[in-house]
Amino acid sequence: MPIREFRLERFMAEHEFRTSYVLGASDCETMSVQELLSLDPGSENDLLRLRLGYAEPAGSPSLREAIAGLYSGVSPDEVITFNGASEGIMAFMSTALQPGDHVIVQFPAYQSLYEIARSRGCDITLWQMDEEKGWSPDLEVLQEQVRPTTKAIVVNSPHNPTGYQFPESDFLALVGFAEERGITIFSDEVYRLLEHRADDRIPAVVDVPGAHVSLGDVSKAYGLAGLRTGWIATHDRDLLGRLARYKDYSTICNSAPGEFFAEIALRHQGKIVARNLDIVRRNVGLLDDFFTTWSSLFSWVRPRGGTTTFPRLSTGAGASALCTDLLGSAGILLIPGTVFEHDDAHIRFGYGRLDMPEGLERLDGHLRARFG
Ligand SMILES: Cc1ncc(COP(=O)(O)O)c(C=O)c1O
Repeated sequence: MPIREFRLERFMAEHEFRTSYVLGASDCETMSVQELLSLDPGSENDLLRLRLGYAEPAGSPSLREAIAGLYSGVSPDEVITFNGASEGIMAFMSTALQPGDHVIVQFPAYQSLYEIARSRGCDITLWQMDEEKGWSPDLEVLQEQVRPTTKAIVVNSPHNPTGYQFPESDFLALVGFAEERGITIFSDEVYRLLEHRADDRIPAVVDVPGAHVSLGDVSKAYGLAGLRTGWIATHDRDLLGRLARYKDYSTICNSAPGEFFAEIALRHQGKIVARNLDIVRRNVGLLDDFFTTWSSLFSWVRPRGGTTTFPRLSTGAGASALCTDLLGSAGILLIPGTVFEHDDAHIRFGYGRLDMPEGLERLDGHLRARFG
């Protein structure tokens, strides 16, 4: 089956770099090379000496060690790096799944989390999140969706676009259920560390007993999407081998500078993520005020983690028209739910960036002129 257009990425490619107020992006505020290196005295000289030949295919040993250190029971050889989490998703879906396999995917979702498997001839069942219940998906519904051919359950928490975070007990119940049935959990954890309250953090799936798969990157919590550095961590040695053999065809290895900078970022995770969480929490405070002011236009489930939220227009439709109007007449980028193949009522806001206050103010002004 042909792979369909990745609607979100096409939308961002068309608009993100041409729009003044990007209020819909999912990454955190980025930083310059200089800012990153200044966190690590002596690294400037290391950068100048960096060799620019092929890097190790599975990722540099020191970077894999730093990544393994993010988890509690993972060794460096249970980590493989990829060119962004995106390549990790492609590699998993292309090597762990066969045509005819059944895959359950939490929905709404980042499109590649279901589209790649669909294009490979897998049967996809969407596990709908329930807005009325704070976007919580229902474990009993998932239990009914499982078939003898179910090979993987794909989840994402903190979640893009809703900002939902599984409570730990629900997450462990889900993993336990999958484990009993021999189903692999593919857990997209790229927004991990961005739980708005520290005690909402749940274990990475690779740290729960079993052979499940954690996906991470430095694009979101670290704001370093330009490094194109992501990874998969799993205890499934057979899968690690297949992922490595896939990467031989896709990109061979990561970019050496990307891995160099990513390793510095991981060494200084505390500082970088604290800065970004500060921005996120401040911006969510502004969204509180914004959605209180505009409660006649939007209903809103306050996010618990990550950088995105998915309010609903009270008119129940028109998200696409509103976003097109905002792009054209106010230079504001917000993402209609249609781009997530969800509906025309929801709009994704992203709140990881420093310029959100100006963008929200402009949006407020535009809505006042339009809706009074
Ligand atoms: C849930 C989710 N997974 C994966 C990705 C891809 O991230 P990367 O930049 O690491 O390829 C994104 C990017 O928006 C995302 O939202």
